[in-house]
This record gives sequence, C-alpha cells and structure tokens, in this order.
Amino acid sequence: MDTKVVRMSPDCLDMQGILEAGSILKNGGLVAFPTETVYGLGGNALDEKAAEKIYRAKGRPSDNPLIIHIAEFSAIEKIVKDVPQKAKLLADAYWPGPLTMVFEKKEIVPYGTTGGLETVAVRMPNHPIALELIRAGGGYVAAPSANKSGRPSPTIASHVEEDLGGRIDMILDGGPVGIGLESTIVDFTDEIPTILRPGYINQEMLEKVIGPVQMDKALMSVSGSIAPKAPGMKYRHYAPQGELVIVAGYPEDVQMRIRQLAEEKVMAGYRVGIIATDESAGEYPLGIVKSIGTRVHEETIAQHLFAVLREFDDSKVDFIYSEAFDTPQIGQAIMNRLLKAAGQHKIDV
Ligand code: TXA
Ligand code: MG
Repeated sequence: MDTKVVRMSPDCLDMQGILEAGSILKNGGLVAFPTETVYGLGGNALDEKAAEKIYRAKGRPSDNPLIIHIAEFSAIEKIVKDVPQKAKLLADAYWPGPLTMVFEKKEIVPYGTTGGLETVAVRMPNHPIALELIRAGGGYVAAPSANKSGRPSPTIASHVEEDLGGRIDMILDGGPVGIGLESTIVDFTDEIPTILRPGYINQEMLEKVIGPVQMDKALMSVSGSIAPKAPGMKYRHYAPQGELVIVAGYPEDVQMRIRQLAEEKVMAGYRVGIIATDESAGEYPLGIVKSIGTRVHEETIAQHLFAVLREFDDSKVDFIYSEAFDTPQIGQAIMNRLLKAAGQHKIDV
C-alpha cells in the first residue's frame, strides 16, 4: 500500500487534505495525525474492522485497548454510560488537552476498540489538525500512538513513516508535536479517580480541580508484581536496542558515575551513548553525547525524549547511560517513560 503524506501547518489548515483523510476514516481506512502529545494512528472507533487494522499495522497485542478521540464534549454521551460530575469538571478545565478519562462504555463501542473491556478511554486532543480530522471522520476516532508496537511514540511525522510507511493509507504531517509524552490517563470507574498513566497534567493539577486522586499502585511497584489497570502499561515500551541504564543522584555524582561507566565500556570496545542536558553535555568526554533539552525548561526534555531514544537506535550504540530527570511538573511522566525504556534499570549514586 502507498502511504500518502499530506503536509500542512497547524496555523493554516489544508481543508481539502483533511476532508480526504476524513473520508478515508469513514471508509474504514487508517490515517496518522498530529496531536499535542504524540502522533496518533486513527481509525473509525465505532467500526470493529478499523480497530483490527490498527492492531495489525502496529503489531500490537489486541488486548490493549484504544483511546477514542472526540472533538466536541457532547459527543461523549453516545459512547459513555455515565459521566461523573468530577469528570465534567476536569473536562472543563483541561479539554481539549492532554487528558484521557476512562468510563463505562455504551454498547455502540465495539469490544474490538476496547480490547474486550466494558470500559472506554476518551480524550479531546488540543490540536487543530486532530480536531478537524475527527470532525471530518465522523466524530469518533480510535487512535493509539502511531509507532510500531514497542517503539518510542512518534513526535514528528518521519517517525511515523519509519514505523508505518506502506502499512497505512495516509499521514497528516503537521510538524513536531508540542508536549512529546502521551496523555495522562484517569480512571473514573473506581471510587476514587485513579491515574493509570502519568502525563503533562499531573496529580496536583487534577487535585486542584476535583480533590483527592490516587495513583495506580502498579505505577509505584518497581518489581512489576502488581498488574497495571491500563493494559498497555504492562508492556515493555520504548525499549532501545542498546542497553539503557539511568543514573540518579546529585549532578556531580551522576556525571562522575556516567563518565566511569562510559570509559569502561569504550575501553572494552563497545559503542556508548549518553543522554545529558544542555547544562551537562560538556562534562562527558567519551561516547556519543546527546542533549535532551535544558533543565531550565523541563518541557524541552519531554519534547525530545522519544526522538533521542530513536536516534540512539539509528547510531547502533551498545549501551546508553542517561541522567535522571525528576523535574517539578512533568518529571514523573518523563521518568515513567524513561524507566520503562530502561526495563526499570536505575543506579542511585
Ligand atoms: O496522548 C495520547 O494518549 C496518544 C495520542 C495519540 O492521543 N495516544 C496514546 O494511545 O498514547 P496508546 O494506545 O499508545 O495508549 C493508550 C493507553 C494504553 O496504555 C491502554 O492500555 C490505555 O491507554 N487504555 C485504553 N483504554 C483503556 C481502558 N478502557 N481502561 C484502561 N486503560 C485503557
Ligand atoms: Mg502507545
């Protein structure tokens, strides 16, 4: 299959391209598109066959449910049994935006979309291309991140082409995404709203609007002994080909340990990559050093994390040493993704 790529600026939409993409969705096809978090791979959420195609294109296990993207709050009524008051408050505060909420589903939502679950995840993305595509495509777009299963989520259109070129009908290329990490997922099917996946909207921002919110216990369990409530969180994601190790502690101690580790491996003939920041990149004389962003603006670290992991795959390193990024607002989400990529391998110095 030829994958058609349509480029446009989010500030100046190519409505003809979007309408064409919308009719692909209505006819059961697949279109990748930018959102404010990562690129998504869209299919008609109410068409079980489209969901099947999504799983096949990504090579994704079919028990891992898809998020339904909507463009109007009123669209939620058709797919969700009951929207609790607290969820309405969060929607008021953060939709459109990087927040996904899980509710009991109505019958119209096929099990193919929800991975067999009685619940459905819903999100209204904050991106003009995404919103217009959803409208053009019938209002309900199932969209996982547009990567091959197991690879880092795509933050630019060329990542999507690398993973899914030739396997999907169209890619809407709207340039780099803004946030770079997937949405926060909050489950409303429990008594206390529960964060299943941390994201840009953190616990404090949620609690400011609706009071107590809990973290899924599986997120705290390093050993992985507790099964996460979001089925997708149990898979080893983003794993780079090189062995990734995170080093955490005071900056000078971290830098010294990473220098030591890099020297050992380089001396032994291995290729080594280092994930540093603008502030620390000059501290590492050996290895391929990449700055992920600046600690002064933590958003830059989130924005570049997935791209840096992909770049290290391209440069075929055997080992990657990364600093830890426990930054104030997005640090929990960044570390959640980085630890997953490292198979939880972290050294505290
Ligand atoms: O930012 C995002 O959320 C991006 C963009 C494209 O919107 N999408 C995304 O989708 O990250 P995906 O499929 O890569 O991740 C969806 C996550 C998975 O961990 C899945 O298990 C969880 O959401 N999920 C979906 N439906 C669920 C449900 N009914 N109950 C619990 N978890 C659910
Ligand atoms: Mg994903």
